[in-house]
Amino acid sequence: MAKILIADDDPTILSLLNKILLSKGYDVRLAENGSVGEKLLKTEQFDLLISDIKMEPVDGMQLLKRTRSVRPHVGVIMLTAYATVATAVEAMKEGAFDYIPKPFKIDELLETVKRALDYQKSLAEQISGNSHVESKKYFGNIVAVSDPMINVCEMIKRVAPTKTTIMITGESGTGKELVAEAVHSFSARSEGPFLPVNCAALPETLIESELFGHVKGSFTGANANKEGLFEAAKGGTLFLDEINSIPHGLQSKLLRAIQNKKIRKVGGTEEFDVDVRILAASNRNLENMVKEGTFREDLFYRLSVISIDIPPLKQRPEDILPLAQHFIAQEIEGGEFPAIDNEVLSILQNYSWPGNVRELQNVIQHCLTFLHDNKITKETLPSKLIVSYEENPAAQASAHINGEFEKGKSLKAFLRAKEKEYLKTVIDSMGGDKAAAAKELDISLATLYRKLPDGEQID
Ligand SMILES: Nc1ncnc2c1ncn2[C@@H]1O[C@H](COP(=O)(O)OP(=O)(O)OP(=O)(O)O)[C@@H](O)[C@H]1O
Ligand SMILES: [Mg+2]
Repeated sequence: MAKILIADDDPTILSLLNKILLSKGYDVRLAENGSVGEKLLKTEQFDLLISDIKMEPVDGMQLLKRTRSVRPHVGVIMLTAYATVATAVEAMKEGAFDYIPKPFKIDELLETVKRALDYQKSLAEQISGNSHVESKKYFGNIVAVSDPMINVCEMIKRVAPTKTTIMITGESGTGKELVAEAVHSFSARSEGPFLPVNCAALPETLIESELFGHVKGSFTGANANKEGLFEAAKGGTLFLDEINSIPHGLQSKLLRAIQNKKIRKVGGTEEFDVDVRILAASNRNLENMVKEGTFREDLFYRLSVISIDIPPLKQRPEDILPLAQHFIAQEIEGGEFPAIDNEVLSILQNYSWPGNVRELQNVIQHCLTFLHDNKITKETLPSKLIVSYEENPAAQASAHINGEFEKGKSLKAFLRAKEKEYLKTVIDSMGGDKAAAAKELDISLATLYRKLPDGEQID
C-alpha cells in the first residue's frame, strides 16, 4: 500500500487526515511541522506528501522544493486555507500535483490522493522505462524498437521453425549471437543444445578436430577418441561464429558436412550421420572474400540460403534508449531505477557507437559504477563519449530539443529559459549592443534589462 507523509502544524487536521487515510489502508506518517517532515523525507521512502503551506520553521513551499530536489519521485499535495490559494497555485508551478483547500470534503480529499498516486506511479514507470521496454522485447530478451530491428525479429520468427541454414551478418557487437540464440530457441530444436563456436579463436591446426572429432592416434597428442562439435550439438544447433576464419582447405569438408549431413573424424575411415542445424555469422563481408578467392563460393551460397543482416546501432537510433533502459534494468535487478539526465540521453543518442550494442552495454555498466545520488549524469559517462559530444556542436544543440521534459520544471520556467537563450542570441548577433537588440526584439530597453536575470552579464 502507498506510503503517505502528512505535514501540518494543526494537530486536529493531522489526526483527522490520519484517521481518514488509515481507514483506506494507506500507510501514514505524521509530521507536526515542516522540519520534522523534512527529516522523515530524508530517512524514509514515501509515495506522497500532503503538506500544509503555512508552517514554522520550515514552511510548505520550502518543504515542497526540498522534496522535489531530494525525492523527485514523491508526489506532493498542498493543503491550503482559502486565503493562500494564490500560493497554492505557485506551489503547482513548483511541481506540486494539486492543492486541497481547507475545509475539505473527505471524498474530494481521497479522490485527489488517489489521482496523485496514480499519476506518480505512471510517471515512475515512464521514467524507469520498465513497462515500456517489456513491451518492446522479442523472444524474451531482444530489444527492438526501430523498424530495421523489428524486421530482424520478424525474420527470426519466420525462419526459425524451418530447417534452413542461416547466415547472420552485422558489425561487431550488433547482437549476432543473440539472434542465433533466438533462432535456436524458437525452433523445433529448442530442447537440444545450442553450441556457439568462435572459429577465429581455434588454432588452424585444431579446428578440423574440434569440429569433426578425431580418432585415437590420428596425430601426435590424439591420445583418445574425441567427439567433435558436430556430434556434441546433436539434436540442437551449432552456431559457427566468425566463419570467415575457417581455413580454405577445410571449407570443402564443411560444405559436405552441411550438405550431406555426414562427417568423417580426423584419422577416421567411416562417415557417420549428424543431426544438427547450422547457423553462421561473419563480421567480414563474405561476398568480398569470395571475390578475393579466400572463401569458397559454393559454401557461401550454401550458408546464405537465408541471411539476416543486423544494422549497426548508429543506423537505428530509436533502439538506443530502450536498450540503455534494458541494460540498467538488468544491472539493478529490481532495485530503484536511477534517473537519467536529459543531457546524458542526448549524448547517448548522438554518439557513433563503433562497438555497437556491446559498447552501449559497457557504457551503462560504467555509468552505474559511478552513479551519484542514484542519478546518471554526464559525469558518470566514460570520457570518450563526452569528448565526442563536445566536438560535435550539432549534438549539443539537439540536447535542448531532446531534453524538453524536465521533471519538476514548470512551463513558465521552461519558457523563461528559452526566452533567455533567445535574448542572448540576439544580443550576441548585435555585437553586444543591447539597445540595438531591444529594437530588433521590438521591446523597450527597460524591458530587455528586466528580462535579464539579476546580475547576469549577458555580453
Ligand atoms: N537488440 C538487443 N537487445 C538486447 N540486448 C542486445 C541486443 N543486441 C545486442 N545485445 C547484447 O549486446 C551484447 C553483444 O551482443 P552479441 O554478443 O550477440 O554481439 P555479436 O554481434 O555476436 O558481437 P561480436 O561480433 O563481437 O561477436 C550481448 O550482451 C547481447 O546480449
Ligand atoms: Mg559474437
